[in-house]
Amino acid sequence: MVKPKIKFFPALLVGLFLIFWVLLLSGNILWTSNQPPLMIIDDMDTQSKATPQEQSNFFPDGGTVRPPVEGTVPRDGALYTVESPEEAETANVNNVPVTEFVLARGKNRFNTFCSPCHAKNAEGNGLVVARGFTPPPSLLRPETKAMSDGRLYHVISHGQNIMPSYADKLTPVDRWAVVHYLRTLQGIEPGSAATRTTVAAAPVDQAQSTDNTATTENR
Ligand code: HEC
Repeated sequence: MVKPKIKFFPALLVGLFLIFWVLLLSGNILWTSNQPPLMIIDDMDTQSKATPQEQSNFFPDGGTVRPPVEGTVPRDGALYTVESPEEAETANVNNVPVTEFVLARGKNRFNTFCSPCHAKNAEGNGLVVARGFTPPPSLLRPETKAMSDGRLYHVISHGQNIMPSYADKLTPVDRWAVVHYLRTLQGIEPGSAATRTTVAAAPVDQAQSTDNTATTENR
């Protein structure tokens, strides 16, 4: 009766060894857990830090991302100094040629930076608006179509009422490319005579389109 005992232990060892490997290899499928793995040294995997778009109690405005310092320009950008739309009329001249590449670039920049509010079709019901931001006017309305390229460039560079300036995100050439692309959405030939001067239908008093105080309450 001694012999089976000697065989039993190697068999047990082999058995345990096999079970160990089966469990180990199938671990991914069978041992699912929502808990973080047990870490003896966590190699800074978890850190106390502020990530973009996160809420924070540290800054008075409740956000983590800081607004760029005033006068910030993108790499290869230039400071925009024109203050009034009237001045913009003559100061800003669109010399960027209308090419397939420029229009594609304009589309890319428009969809990235403008569509969140203005929507990809420029009608003004972008995602941010769907989540409660004050709707901008449709950029296809006659008043906006009547604005010259220089005026559109001014709105992008300077901002208008609650629309912030995009001068810190778009280089001058990119802004002109956006203007050209916006013309195609408006059904106006980019770079044509119609884009050069503002005509009467354009909004006279810029403040009339949206009331600033009402907006802050709505947000
Ligand atoms: C954060 C939301 C937001 C983003 C992003 C935004 N806009 Fe605006 N935009 C507005 C609002 C709101 C108005 C209306 C401002 C007012 O009350 O005068 C406006 C107004 C305009 C106007 C003037 C329309 C008119 O008839 O008075 C133009 C042109 C314009 N935006 C173009 C752009 C372009 C081009 C971009 C991208 C570079 C852009 N906007 C990005 C919110 C935004």
